[in-house]
Amino acid sequence: MTELVLPNDTNTLGNMLGGRLMHLIDIAAAIAGARHSCKVAVTASVDELNFLHPIKLGEVVILRASVNRVFNTSMEVGVKVFAQNLRNGNLTHANSAYLTFVALDDNGIPCKIEPIHPGDETEKRRYREALERRERRLQHRKHQYKRK
Ligand SMILES: CC(C)(COP(=O)(O)OP(=O)(O)OC[C@H]1O[C@@H](n2cnc3c(N)ncnc32)[C@H](O)[C@@H]1OP(=O)(O)O)[C@@H](O)C(=O)NCCC(=O)NCCS
Repeated sequence: MTELVLPNDTNTLGNMLGGRLMHLIDIAAAIAGARHSCKVAVTASVDELNFLHPIKLGEVVILRASVNRVFNTSMEVGVKVFAQNLRNGNLTHANSAYLTFVALDDNGIPCKIEPIHPGDETEKRRYREALERRERRLQHRKHQYKRK
């Protein structure tokens, strides 16, 4: 997904607002998840987000989303964000995020998703690491519920 950073997307320093970027990340990831599952995919969780580099007014935001692994009714989607300076074409890695989406059937009930088959080495690494991240996030979820 590609977007131009306009004045309404920025703070008074001319940097893109974090909330606006989070919105784009969620949309890009939801599209990847829905295209893979052919279902409505809702956001179940977003892992820790780090803003590595400010994205400036007039730059282009490029979001690359991929389904890293399907579990059962949920899947992990990774989004890598780049900022492109249109004067020199330079690309800067600005942000990375991992989100979990759950596919819902027509009655809003979680339903099974077709697995993915990783191809190259990068896809295989993402597939492997996605399982470790899932274990951490489910553990975290369990602790959160325990506290309530
Ligand atoms: C996401 C949602 C559908 C899960 O429903 P649920 O009744 O908790 O369903 P389950 O406990 O059976 O979990 C379904 C799957 O989601 C996964 N899941 C649920 N919560 C999760 C979380 N916080 N992080 C990661 N995975 C999660 C489960 O592990 C399970 O995955 P699996 O089938 O691949 O093993 C439900 O909580 C919901 O509708 N949440 C609101 C979603 C929404 O509105 N999002 C927009 C942002 S506000």
